[in-house]
Amino acid sequence: MTSLSGITPSGRLTLGNHLGALRRFTDPDGFYFVANLHAMTTKHDPRRLAALTRETATLMLAAGLPAGTVFVQADVPAHAQLAYLLECTSYVGELARMIQYKEKGRGKPMTRASLFTYPCLMAADILLYGTDRVPVGGDQDQHVELARDIAIRFNREYGETFVVPELAKAALAMRIKDLANPTAKMSKSAADDAVGTIRLLDPPDVIRRQILRAVTDSGTEVRHDEEAKPGITNLLEILATCTDGDPVALAAAYSSYGELKADVAEAVLSVIEPLQKEYAVLASEPGAVDGMLAQGRDRAIAAGEPRLRAAIRAMGLTGSE
Ligand code: TYM
Repeated sequence: MTSLSGITPSGRLTLGNHLGALRRFTDPDGFYFVANLHAMTTKHDPRRLAALTRETATLMLAAGLPAGTVFVQADVPAHAQLAYLLECTSYVGELARMIQYKEKGRGKPMTRASLFTYPCLMAADILLYGTDRVPVGGDQDQHVELARDIAIRFNREYGETFVVPELAKAALAMRIKDLANPTAKMSKSAADDAVGTIRLLDPPDVIRRQILRAVTDSGTEVRHDEEAKPGITNLLEILATCTDGDPVALAAAYSSYGELKADVAEAVLSVIEPLQKEYAVLASEPGAVDGMLAQGRDRAIAAGEPRLRAAIRAMGLTGSE
């Protein structure tokens, strides 16, 4: 079983990134990377990208991933090489159906071409390593499905080359909502001071205040009900994920919104504070972080190379061999 997942350094990581993805990166032989090539699909600032790449990589290590499992995507050229080969097997029609492209890019004159072809790069990330498990939040399901379709088609047309990956769906926390707008996803690309977005590296008192001020629903009953009580349901899901509980059963323990919010704040901080402590240790040892990322890069290069070569051969690109 090979588990692989990536995080795009397009903003400071949120509680949604942690509960939906990072905390599920648990395979000590997995491949977990900062998807910096993916952060250039919209206008970007090179200095901010470099700083966010470092912050994201350090957070992944702070979450407990061993050296050798974490790397930076652009350090491994095979991702971009395989992405081009996969673009040559993908159809404009299927890429045009991707929700992210439809929402962010379609019809806009300044849309970067890479926003359109992005799912091919993501498929390359996954297929390069013979991945079978991809732990991601619900917003990435469509991209993983496409990676499966691309693998199946490639194997049929050019011979058995890729493992067809499975989605690793979590029971909970597939879509943590914004605390100020509980019908929208909590997103790291929200404004830096957005009150509904919990950033993993914000000071604990800021995080506590944000949770205590979360928008709630009309009425007073604490009930798990996505339609009628999106705010309370989101808080129950966060609490259940942080405490390994069941959101429906937890609801019964509360008779007021205030009590629930206080417990959510404590539960979130009990998950975030150890992460922040470990982050501070690592951030004070930049040489050690460099070493761990170099180990990750070297292992990823060695692991990805044979499958890239196999794809090159299968497609008839071996002019000099
Ligand atoms: P990204 O950077 O947008 O998000 C990183 C991970 O966090 C999950 N996530 C959430 N989960 C629950 N609730 C939320 N509010 C929430 N917000 C984000 C995402 O689903 C994701 O798992 N394209 C990917 C990165 C990527 C990748 C890959 C993932 C590149 N290549 C290969 C897996 C395999 C992305 O932009 O995720």
